Amino acid sequence: MTYSPVTNDDVDELRAFLSQADLTIAGLESPAVRVWVDRGPDGSIIGSTGFELSADGANALIRSVAVTSTRRTAGEGTDLARFALEEAARSGATRAWLFSRRSGPFWQKLGFSLADRDALAAVLPDTQQVRLFTETGQLEREVAWARDLDDIAGRSVRVGQSGPAEMTCR
Ligand SMILES: CC(C)(COP(=O)(O)OP(=O)(O)OC[C@H]1O[C@@H](n2cnc3c(N)ncnc32)[C@H](O)[C@@H]1OP(=O)(O)O)[C@@H](O)C(=O)NCCC(=O)NCCS
Repeated sequence: MTYSPVTNDDVDELRAFLSQADLTIAGLESPAVRVWVDRGPDGSIIGSTGFELSADGANALIRSVAVTSTRRTAGEGTDLARFALEEAARSGATRAWLFSRRSGPFWQKLGFSLADRDALAAVLPDTQQVRLFTETGQLEREVAWARDLDDIAGRSVRVGQSGPAEMTCR
């Protein structure tokens, strides 16, 4: 699976895609937000994934993981999420966090556990989502999740690769 980094030319299409998936579109144009997309045979976006690092690089806020509605429950979401975790680990992050109110079981299958939203905001205060949710008061309604990246840190793994280098989900 090859995912393409989002460029300025893709941002409007990505915003529309994420809006359809009911995900946050704030700050997608920020260079700090790294997002990749998967495109279908007709060239349209069918999946997306990404993250934003804390200033010290130790923590990653996973965001924008979405699969177009007609392609869900076939493993694509797992591939996209794993890709973001691998890229975050390769960038030096040792812990991944995210906000998800509706997809907790999906993230639990990927090794995430419930986390303290204020702890998330404390380690990732400058990220686009934390700033938005803090400003709007939405933070109090969000559900935070986290997992360590120790088991995949430093590995050069491609999505779908099997064998000992594959990421292990807890
Ligand atoms: C969440 C999402 C990315 C999952 O994509 P997907 O391609 O359906 O995921 P997968 O097929 O890899 O699912 C893996 C497992 O998680 C389960 N799962 C997927 N989405 C789930 C959800 N919202 N709630 C509960 N379980 C879910 C699947 O049933 C599957 O379980 P199984 O291994 O027992 O079969 C997709 O539903 C989506 O785009 N939702 C809208 C955007 C969103 O909420 N993103 C997450 C916040 S960043």
